[in-house]
Amino acid sequence: MTAIQSNPETIPQAIEKPADDGVVYFDGRYLPKSDARVSPDDRGFLLGDGIYEVAAAYDGRFVALDRHMDRLRRSLKESRIGDSVADPLETVFQELLDRNGFSESGKAMVYLQVTRGVAPRSHAFPKVPIRPTVYAYAAPFPDMGNLAAGVAAITRPDLRWSRCDIKVISLIANVLANQEAKENGAFEAILIRDGFALEGTHTSFFAVKDGVIRTAPLSNFILPGITREITIEAVLRAGVEVVESPISASELNGMDELFITGTTTEVVPIVKLDGKPVRSGKPGPVTLQAMELYRAAAGIP
Ligand code: PDD
Repeated sequence: MTAIQSNPETIPQAIEKPADDGVVYFDGRYLPKSDARVSPDDRGFLLGDGIYEVAAAYDGRFVALDRHMDRLRRSLKESRIGDSVADPLETVFQELLDRNGFSESGKAMVYLQVTRGVAPRSHAFPKVPIRPTVYAYAAPFPDMGNLAAGVAAITRPDLRWSRCDIKVISLIANVLANQEAKENGAFEAILIRDGFALEGTHTSFFAVKDGVIRTAPLSNFILPGITREITIEAVLRAGVEVVESPISASELNGMDELFITGTTTEVVPIVKLDGKPVRSGKPGPVTLQAMELYRAAAGIP
């Protein structure tokens, strides 16, 4: 009888990887994250030429995956990468949960990005058609502490381009503004363009005055947030008035409540803006109601 030998060649690759490596989807295959190799000629890497999507799952069930797929297709069309690449991707979202142990319990997110593909650097599209690069991973929700108690925000000029409705991976303006928020002890920066408060660096923005919720109307200057949409639908059903009209920066001080929404943030009160408390400095009643209604509408346990 031969002894069982630990021949390195027969040991499955996966057990040699760090435990937190995770299985990712890359270029049509599922593989350990450390085995994914992005070409230095990838147009996402060289030019930020790509789009992305983020969806959240609770106990293995996605919130509004159909809406995330619709927005993904729209981003692919508007960026002229082409939306046929989206066809198999709904399965990828679910499969990544299953393969990473998130299909039973807990809060997880799936990040998915598509770049135009790999080609020697040039601004125009490559002359020969190239295959888009698709990369996706699942992860536990980022631990952001107790956001429900309310966060601080700052206002900053919106230095982004004019197609913020497309969820593009070129996020340097968002990154710089969010970093300034962090350096000022704040969670989010609310971006001001032409005197109007539009949205956060990674969240949609709402204000409340006299029981009425206000938020910027959809346009090329904001992302059509899915949490925004679900929250608006839910509060309207509950009889709360919502007005989608531009909020001028000069009105912010007079608002009763402020809050932000996002896939991984959910609905979060802003209790301090630019160093000053918003009213009592505590989450207001309409915000608390919106938080509850969103969680119920999204099916969050
Ligand atoms: N951010 N506005 C911007 C600029 C965003 O980047 C996001 C999402 C939102 C909220 O959209 P939604 O409710 O669909 O998540 C609004 C994602 C989560 C991110 O960049 O990680």
